[in-house]
Amino acid sequence: MTNHTISQQEFKLFQDYVYKNVGISLADHKITLVQGRLSKRLRQLGLDSYKQYFDYMINDTTGEEEFQLISAISTNVTQFFRESSQWDYLSESLPAILATKKDKTLRIWSAACSSGEEPYTIAMFLHSHIHDFSQWQIKILATDISKRVLTKAQSGIYEEKDIQGVPKHMIASYFETRKSGDGKSYQVVQMLRDLITFRMFNLVYDSFVGFGHQFDIIFCRNVMIYFDPETQQKLISNYHKILVEDGILFVGHSESLTRNKDEFKLLRPSIYQKM
Ligand SMILES: C[S@@+](CC[C@H](N)C(=O)[O-])C[C@H]1O[C@@H](n2cnc3c(N)ncnc32)[C@H](O)[C@@H]1O
Repeated sequence: MTNHTISQQEFKLFQDYVYKNVGISLADHKITLVQGRLSKRLRQLGLDSYKQYFDYMINDTTGEEEFQLISAISTNVTQFFRESSQWDYLSESLPAILATKKDKTLRIWSAACSSGEEPYTIAMFLHSHIHDFSQWQIKILATDISKRVLTKAQSGIYEEKDIQGVPKHMIASYFETRKSGDGKSYQVVQMLRDLITFRMFNLVYDSFVGFGHQFDIIFCRNVMIYFDPETQQKLISNYHKILVEDGILFVGHSESLTRNKDEFKLLRPSIYQKM
């Protein structure tokens, strides 16, 4: 019989592991959330306790079980055109940003892109706002720590409920419908998929040296809430290094850069500019 109750000791094992390996800081009160989210996995594997699951996970040399753990404890919730005020800001400021790009190359990073709605929104937005789009080199890097969400993102395939936030005319222009089971699914057109490179990247532990270029805009939304203040501060400093002069950083609406005041100035709520 599966023991569905996680002990404090068992929770601490996950807390320490996740902090050291993923960078996610699990507060003590998350114990029931972790128990709930992992119980299904224990049942699937036929394990009797959370300690058994922990041992199973750290002994899995393929790393697959770590992905399962990360997927279970982190939230991947996302949507197309999330946080409309940021897209409004970008509509207003894009002409000025483009005017500074003499080489007609624009580099954008969607850090923690989840299942892809954010980078595809960026691609749709840019294609619909840049009138001489074909003359531009648009490069969107989309990264996440979870292989599972990246696989979905890369396919570019969404259900009807996922594309609710996309304006009708954009659905017509930027998605192809496909038959799936009894219903329909929608795949982002190849032309937009070609703009995006998907990659695994751990924002806390992977190196920021080696991108080979700087970014004009970084989206890092709704992931910093999982990190402790020191980790957030270090991450923001890394963004500062790899943004171009005056580069823009978008964060989630409940996130702010209180510790990096010398590096970024607030333009509008959740929108910052490199100083
Ligand atoms: C709530 S989603 C945010 C998606 C999107 N940015 C948005 O705002 O809609 C958070 C994502 O962060 C990812 N994540 C969590 N910890 C991470 C880390 N240390 N490095 C990179 N990605 C991480 C999760 O896998 C998840 O897909």
